[in-house]
Amino acid sequence: MKIDIISAVPELLESPFGHSILQRAKQKKLLEVNLINLRKYGLGKHRQIDDYQFGGGAGMVMMIEPLDKCLTELKSETAYDEVIYTTPDGEVLNQQIANELSLKKNLLILCGHYKGIDERVRPKHITREISIGDYVLSGGELAAAVLVDSIGRLLPGVLNDETSALFDSFQDDLLAPPVYTRPADYEGDKVPDILLSGNFGKIDEWRYEKALERTRNRRPDLLKED
Ligand code: 6GU
Repeated sequence: MKIDIISAVPELLESPFGHSILQRAKQKKLLEVNLINLRKYGLGKHRQIDDYQFGGGAGMVMMIEPLDKCLTELKSETAYDEVIYTTPDGEVLNQQIANELSLKKNLLILCGHYKGIDERVRPKHITREISIGDYVLSGGELAAAVLVDSIGRLLPGVLNDETSALFDSFQDDLLAPPVYTRPADYEGDKVPDILLSGNFGKIDEWRYEKALERTRNRRPDLLKED
């Protein structure tokens, strides 16, 4: 999979993709992430990319021209399955959306900044708008990092134990059950016997019960029929 990301502050995104799971995905050539600096398409010698909003009001708006030039050029080089704009007024990211996007081949993500982008860019170029939750971030970069992480770890071969993403919280609308590792007895605080029993049928049952219990207690909304 290839993910291109347009940002006015690409430096913000360098670190998240240089570590851990996503780094492994890149090394194994399962995921390619390219950062595109929107400034390159900025106007004039100051490479301007934002301006005051018509009608007045606080906050700058990302101008149509640099965005249109940048998006048009990238789209002429790659057939994107989705052109995603990260914005608080988008659909809220969940596991189903991450699953869906992980099946695509080429994604383009535009990180919103300031007050957002000139509205005319949306119908012209954007196919999907995604928010990562009901709170406001200072820019779309961290949201893009969250989105790419949630997608990247689902690509086949990225996780060591290929089955492990299947048991994640949310993958079946349940939170994950509790987990334990050595020692089995820490100063009298013991791991549940069942996990040491070697009876994998019973262990699966126990985990399912615990997942259900945890979901009922913490996130009953996940159990509601829709
Ligand atoms: Cl995608 N962008 C910004 N700026 N804030 C957010 C967000 C996105 N998702 C939640 N809050």
